[in-house]
Amino acid sequence: METTKIGIIGCGMISDTYFKAAKKFNILEVVACCDNQPERAAKKTELFGVPSMTKKKLLARKDIKIVINLTPPKAHSQIDLEILNAGKHVYSEKPFGVDAADAAKVMALAKKKNLRVGCAPDTFLGGAQQTARKLIDDGWIGKPLSGTAMILERGPEDWPQAPFFYDYGAGPMLDMGPYYITSLVNMLGPAESVTAVTAKGSETRTYGPVVADEYKDKYTPFCQYPVKVNTHLTGVIKFKCGALITVIASFDCHMHGHPPIEIYGTEGSMQVPDPNMFGGVIRVFKPGYEAWKEVPLTHGYTENSRSIGAADMAYALRSGRQHRANGKLANHVLEIMLAFDKSSAAKKEIVLKTTCDRPEALPLGLTPGLLPE
Ligand SMILES: NC(=O)c1ccc[n+]([C@@H]2O[C@H](COP(=O)([O-])OP(=O)(O)OC[C@H]3O[C@@H](n4cnc5c(N)ncnc54)[C@H](O)[C@@H]3O)[C@@H](O)[C@H]2O)c1
Repeated sequence: METTKIGIIGCGMISDTYFKAAKKFNILEVVACCDNQPERAAKKTELFGVPSMTKKKLLARKDIKIVINLTPPKAHSQIDLEILNAGKHVYSEKPFGVDAADAAKVMALAKKKNLRVGCAPDTFLGGAQQTARKLIDDGWIGKPLSGTAMILERGPEDWPQAPFFYDYGAGPMLDMGPYYITSLVNMLGPAESVTAVTAKGSETRTYGPVVADEYKDKYTPFCQYPVKVNTHLTGVIKFKCGALITVIASFDCHMHGHPPIEIYGTEGSMQVPDPNMFGGVIRVFKPGYEAWKEVPLTHGYTENSRSIGAADMAYALRSGRQHRANGKLANHVLEIMLAFDKSSAAKKEIVLKTTCDRPEALPLGLTPGLLPE
């Protein structure tokens, strides 16, 4: 099989996962990487044998078709624009952007240049999320009426990079929300509106014993750092299919007992596992059952396969079909997430302006390493 050549911009923490997982997909060949801290890219050459170079050289390479953007969220839109301006298709990490206007610029440039935009998360293409999607499509719980999506945690308060998670462009919604909201759109289709209230549990958080290099000029171990975003966002997403999903995205919770996602339908209920993972356990309850019943997974890719979205995009480029983890989906998910704070500030329901198609489900029985043409 002729491979699709890939370049990676941003060689930080998540990049190892991409360098490793991309090898699972016959169609992907990572041929170049760069980072604005060149020693980080050089380290990946050492570890994975992928040549490192400047961003300029990477973007000038004629053989590279798709560039994967693994920079921090605030840089996503700018780097996406640079990739598109270099005439390459872009696949970005989540979130698609940190504000709607920048994300719209990326969508507009891609359209103008007739290039593709892809975006993480691609965990919804994993075995557990595709099984949940199939159960809905096959009518196991009837028509979905309502449900819950619970991102409840204390937050990475004492991590070396902790201030990042409490800064603009992150917080529980923009950092974790993409997994949950994308999972919901995959199961239920696009949303219509958001009604929410949001708050901040505290104005500062306490650092742990290790401060990351990039924060050492500002912070010392166990010092306080500011919380710049809301850390408890709660509301209801109304989906076009009619389902009302109650969402909590919080970094203000020490412990809870809720499953990540539950969907309640006319014929039963379904528990969906952590959408930040590719696998997990699905349970269904229907009238007549004595308790929840575990449902075996119908689809593969249950282990970490980040880059499956880029692989699907590479196949789609060949055949001309739509790719699943696409920009329209990611842009809609971004608008839904941003609507929580918007609704809270305005004290009203926010009617969404964007929409998307429900991504096509993956077929059963895929050969490992291959995806549909
Ligand atoms: N770390 C995780 O577990 C994880 C998991 C899933 C998704 N993500 C997402 O992946 C993205 C990257 O996260 P990370 O944890 O790897 O961050 P990171 O800070 O460890 O890595 C980002 C890298 O991008 C580089 N960079 C920044 N601006 C750049 C620019 N303009 N040009 C070239 N390189 C630039 C930085 O030097 C750094 O090496 C984020 O969007 C994050 O939300 C991270």
